[in-house]
Amino acid sequence: MTQDELKQAVAQAAADHVAEHLPAGAILGVGTGSTANLFIAALAPIKARLGGAVASSEATRQRLEQLGIRVVDMNEVERLAIYVDGADEIDPGMSMIKGGGGALTREKIVAAVSDTFVCIADASKQVPVLGRFPLPVEVIPMAARQVARQLAALGGTPKLREGFVTDNGNLILDVHGLAITDPVAMETAINQMVGVVTNGLFAARGADLLLLGTAAGVQRLVRN
Ligand code: 5RP
Repeated sequence: MTQDELKQAVAQAAADHVAEHLPAGAILGVGTGSTANLFIAALAPIKARLGGAVASSEATRQRLEQLGIRVVDMNEVERLAIYVDGADEIDPGMSMIKGGGGALTREKIVAAVSDTFVCIADASKQVPVLGRFPLPVEVIPMAARQVARQLAALGGTPKLREGFVTDNGNLILDVHGLAITDPVAMETAINQMVGVVTNGLFAARGADLLLLGTAAGVQRLVRN
């Protein structure tokens, strides 16, 4: 199976999970990226049972609206039962690197109010140790240089994502060469740097359920 076919399979599995577990009329959290886009398309047959959706990016908001799904402002929501999103890497403890699409901050905000984070990923995203994928860090523009120096002191090589501005008007530093053996500690340390909005480690709040697309079918892995 191709990577796109694996993504399609997990997107459909996530839509089935939503149909089975999301209470009728409830609001759904929806992530960003190519796998999330396939998930949005798979929502079409069940959209009538959704009360609406919270979008983790402007791109996702547009796709949901094109499908006729009402997009609800995050500030109108207290809790979400389910949030479905992709990942760039996921480790055995269900910690993730996210933000390849640059939507990490809004994704983390939506994840924070969600009871169940359903990660949808093809098998290439599963890794023993996070860090081969460069870790995205969203920074306030005036702090980019000083944050880059501190990230280099952690042992990584930060590179400015050229020509990219986040939905929040900020910049992204992609940090190469980190071997992230303690994801919670690294997430906390980077978030302490003045000028960092957030970083793409989702470890303090990782995934609860992983729908992993493999050649043998979609595997369901639950966090211990
Ligand atoms: C966007 C993300 C995406 O979930 C992540 O980049 C995975 O994307 P894709 O499904 O296209 O591989 O975090 O900010």
